[in-house]
Amino acid sequence: MAKIKTKFVCQECGYETAKWLGKCPSCGQWNTFVEEMESRDGDTKNQRGISRGKIEKIQHITSSKKERFSTGSAEMDRVLGGGIIKSSLILVGGDPGIGKSTLLLQVADYVSRNNLKVLYISGEESGEQIKIRADRLGVGEGELYVLAETNIDIIKEFVEKEEPDLLILDSIQTIYSPEVVSAPGSVSQVREVTAMVMRMTKVRNMASFIVGHVTKAGAIAGPRVLEHMVDTVLYFEGERHFSYRILRAVKNRFGSTNEIGIFEMREQGLVEVENPSEVFLKGRPVDSYGTVVTAAMEGTRPVLIEIQALVTYSPAGFANRVMTGIDKNRASMLIAVLEKKAGLGIQSSDVFINVTGGLQLREPASDLAILCAVASSFKEIPVDFKTVLIGEVGLTGEIRGVNSIEKRLTEAQKMGFERAVIAESNDTIKDINMEIIHVNNIRQVMDLLF
Ligand SMILES: Nc1ncnc2c1ncn2[C@@H]1O[C@H](COP(=O)(O)OP(=O)(O)OP(=O)(O)O)[C@@H](O)[C@H]1O
Ligand SMILES: [Mg+2]
Ligand SMILES: [Zn+2]
Repeated sequence: MAKIKTKFVCQECGYETAKWLGKCPSCGQWNTFVEEMESRDGDTKNQRGISRGKIEKIQHITSSKKERFSTGSAEMDRVLGGGIIKSSLILVGGDPGIGKSTLLLQVADYVSRNNLKVLYISGEESGEQIKIRADRLGVGEGELYVLAETNIDIIKEFVEKEEPDLLILDSIQTIYSPEVVSAPGSVSQVREVTAMVMRMTKVRNMASFIVGHVTKAGAIAGPRVLEHMVDTVLYFEGERHFSYRILRAVKNRFGSTNEIGIFEMREQGLVEVENPSEVFLKGRPVDSYGTVVTAAMEGTRPVLIEIQALVTYSPAGFANRVMTGIDKNRASMLIAVLEKKAGLGIQSSDVFINVTGGLQLREPASDLAILCAVASSFKEIPVDFKTVLIGEVGLTGEIRGVNSIEKRLTEAQKMGFERAVIAESNDTIKDINMEIIHVNNIRQVMDLLF
């Protein structure tokens, strides 16, 4: 009898070896190797490219202008770069229970009501369970077909027979190929199944969504290989105890990855949030120190965000610095600038900074607000409730201009802000009816606010 050959596969990056290793030489992770069976007729069977053995001059390749169709949600369309592209494969990752199936069922419903055929395949729920959800969401009028199946070969037969325009696979970790001996969810399986879906998608000119669960570490379970294989990777995020959900593109072959979509989870399903500033400023404390508002750009859209800071005396002599929603190094730099350039003795204080609403602030334009939130808490003096602060802070304490200043100010004005503190170099501002205060260094800001 032939001996079954096994190999060890890194569950993070897909690196393969013949022997077990403690640390992956490819991605550097520890304890990621799992023994998997070699596939029966060679793992490479299904790893051929998209079109085989044909070389063409680039200007002779016909590019049917990439057609897009809407998901029915302006928020999701924007994150995708303007809708779903035909023959693209999109991965939607997210924590358990965050609402992935809900989101895709709503997309399936909209698409199927617009003369396109949708096949929703669930490896996790029975048709009946999906129907219960569909009834709760009030969807299911269109050309929407549901199949509870986990075998990719059978799924493939249905796809060939039914010829859907949109295929949804929920989730990739539950679907398996009988060609591969390893358990569903293992790297070999996920890779094989994804490769098959990819080929079906490209050959049939349909679009496909696959759902992927996320591990505790925040990666799509097991394989980072998966992210390389697909065209677009979306993450659906949110706090369990908040009803707000954020959809973010982390990879997009057909659009920018800067855009976010904001939804609220209600009993009737996910509802788009059209005015995120209102959401993020809800419940903001009046006349408290340590809270400041800035206008950040999330992709092409300005969003007002509250930043809170708490500075307390640290008896241990070892200052604690805890940041949520902003980069720790950036915050340390801003605290150092406050210490050195504004003369605030916060070196031995604990500093906590929090961006409300669970957002991540990545742009330096929020520096000035972060810095003022910290200073306000330290001095125990509130910043005026109707003032917004926008600017980058440099190492010498200078305040630098930021991009899209008019968009940001317009949003602030719309939300009822009356005063803006911005950099002197942001000097060409039209059509804004707020009081604009130009500053060029941090000392000036301290004199102005405190
Ligand atoms: N009756 C209800 N009213 C309001 N919200 C509900 C109701 N039922 C479910 N939900 C919301 O839907 C969420 C589950 O949605 P969904 O099943 O789409 O998530 P998922 O990401 O697909 O989960 P899984 O990882 O289990 O597949 C719940 O966490 C809850 O927030
Ligand atoms: Mg689900
Ligand atoms: Zn690895």
